[in-house]
Amino acid sequence: MRAVILAGGTGTRLFPLTKLMNKHLLPVGRLPMICYSLIKLREAGITDILLVTGREAAGMFTDFLGSGRDYGISLTYRIQEQAGGIAQALELAQPFVGSEDKFLVLLGDNLFEEPLKPHLEAFAKQSEGAMVLLKQVPDPERYGVPVFDAKGRIERIEEKPEQPQTDFCVTGIYLFDASVFTLIHEQAPSQRGELEITDVNNAYASKGMLRHSRMNGWWTDAGTFESLQEASIKLMGTVP
Ligand code: G1P
Repeated sequence: MRAVILAGGTGTRLFPLTKLMNKHLLPVGRLPMICYSLIKLREAGITDILLVTGREAAGMFTDFLGSGRDYGISLTYRIQEQAGGIAQALELAQPFVGSEDKFLVLLGDNLFEEPLKPHLEAFAKQSEGAMVLLKQVPDPERYGVPVFDAKGRIERIEEKPEQPQTDFCVTGIYLFDASVFTLIHEQAPSQRGELEITDVNNAYASKGMLRHSRMNGWWTDAGTFESLQEASIKLMGTVP
């Protein structure tokens, strides 16, 4: 299986830390944030990885990671010229993924404890569609929040709802089949002018093709000062 790491964006919630430095290169514990995604993917046996980032940051990523050889992986890069949403960044992965394969998408600021492998194995049993990983959080209103039907399946996802219907959030760890690219093409920009990953997942949900898997270990999105610090403390001791 191949994987795509989305590592673009402006990181405004972490300004001015992100004025000069892409969020995914900020220090977390002893490593730049991006390393944790690479470590998790390699641990799950995924070594063929596409990294999507913005034009200004691309040079720093290639300087730091090169071909990926030092991490035992093979990296391909694509540039998102303008921030236009997670789904727009994901669209750039189409040539890398091809038309038949299932693949994994990681938002590069998602840091987490447990191995990905059991979730990949669950997705492998799913004949088609998508799977999202859910995590119980104290502040679901910051995230995409699933609404379940009577059978416990995701009926739809509400993005940053004022009154969340559950305390689960949809993490930035997604498993897709290649039909995701058709669904992205069918989306229109949201009110904030972006192609939203939640709209894409909702398109799967409306076809009854969205499954989920629950994460039990700790998880954080490291997109705010507090969560960045929390992640740093948690991860400080994990790498030699
Ligand atoms: C994005 C998604 C959201 C998801 C979150 C996880 O939000 O839109 O559904 O819960 O990532 O990190 P963002 O961090 O771009 O606000």
